[in-house]
Amino acid sequence: MGTQHLFSPLTIASPSGPGLTLRNRLIVAPMCQYSVDDLGGVPTDWHLQHLGSMAAGGFGMVVTEATGVEPRARISPRDLGLYTDEQQDAHARIVSFIHAQGAASAIQLGHAGAKASTYPGLPGLPEGTVPPQEGGWIPRGATTEPVRDGYDAPEALDGGGIAAVVRAFAEAAARADAAGYDAVQIHAAHGYLLHQFLSPLTNTRTDEYGGSEENRTRLTREVVAAVRAVWPDEKPLGIRFSAVDWTPGGWGIESMIRLARTLVSDYGVTWIDASTGGLDKSEFIEVGPGYQVRFAAALREALEGTNATVSAVGLIEDAFQAETILASGQADAISIGRAALRNPHWAAQAAARLGVASEENPRSIPLWRARW
Ligand SMILES: Cc1cc2nc3c(=O)[nH]c(=O)nc-3n(C[C@H](O)[C@H](O)[C@H](O)COP(=O)(O)O)c2cc1C
Repeated sequence: MGTQHLFSPLTIASPSGPGLTLRNRLIVAPMCQYSVDDLGGVPTDWHLQHLGSMAAGGFGMVVTEATGVEPRARISPRDLGLYTDEQQDAHARIVSFIHAQGAASAIQLGHAGAKASTYPGLPGLPEGTVPPQEGGWIPRGATTEPVRDGYDAPEALDGGGIAAVVRAFAEAAARADAAGYDAVQIHAAHGYLLHQFLSPLTNTRTDEYGGSEENRTRLTREVVAAVRAVWPDEKPLGIRFSAVDWTPGGWGIESMIRLARTLVSDYGVTWIDASTGGLDKSEFIEVGPGYQVRFAAALREALEGTNATVSAVGLIEDAFQAETILASGQADAISIGRAALRNPHWAAQAAARLGVASEENPRSIPLWRARW
């Protein structure tokens, strides 16, 4: 097998201009690091080394972790935000380093909704909602139903609250542009706010944001439209979906495909990452190598003939496995999560395994003497 797919450049289209060209088709999936210093959402040196080392390690694009568009949007009090000048400046420093390594930079903008203010997924910490005395806050979601046992009941967003969320996404996107990010990925997956509205399991609202599929997708469409309005036309806008809830009666692949088609044809979205799950406590996920690739493949097929890039994610940990997914046309790009966390130079190693010449290996020059 050759390297003609994984290590060939990829251009993600944008509404105007040539689009964003990545040096290869490996994208670092967003991964929360729970590593801010003062609970103020400002990226630290940890984030610089985390994202920077993966850029140095040869990835085509690095996606910054789920970043709250307002203080209450953060998943945990230790998550990043992008709603102050200080945060923006710290993001800009990281973006500049990523670019210097030859990689593109994207940021995942999100709102955790009813899953906000939770303890980070780190050892020694409980599950559930962080109380105010530990830096937590009352979460706000689609309804007043807690999404999990042990989570506090959220407040339900009213019309004004929804409009404020949409505005916050747009303001954060404007800051992402000012910080130099090349792409934005809107987080509509994993049981967070937009997914809470999309899924009939969590959205039992009776207003124009609940009930029919048209209504449940309204908030996502409003967020995408508001972000696209401020995000430069020359830059790609992406979105991450959970393709399925893994629970009967939940959000599913057909709905995701319908919404994706609309966002691509009418809203200027050109990059979709197909993940799954994260919403329902009773979900049963069939986990195994490449366990979510079939959802990306279904989306890829449904979007044939459009300008959209589809990335696959989920236990893609082997270079040949990744190459095969692209060679068989199941996706246009591969998002790598834990394998990159374990080994930030995963892309450089994959290039060597697939026979890319040392001189063409995408890793940064100071690593040269460790070449294969
Ligand atoms: C430590 C950690 C943090 C994560 N944080 C995020 C996040 O901020 N946003 C998101 O959409 N997914 C997040 N994920 C999910 C990953 O992006 C990815 O979809 C998942 O780990 C499956 O891919 P993998 O098997 O390559 O790790 C996180 C995963 C891990 C392990």
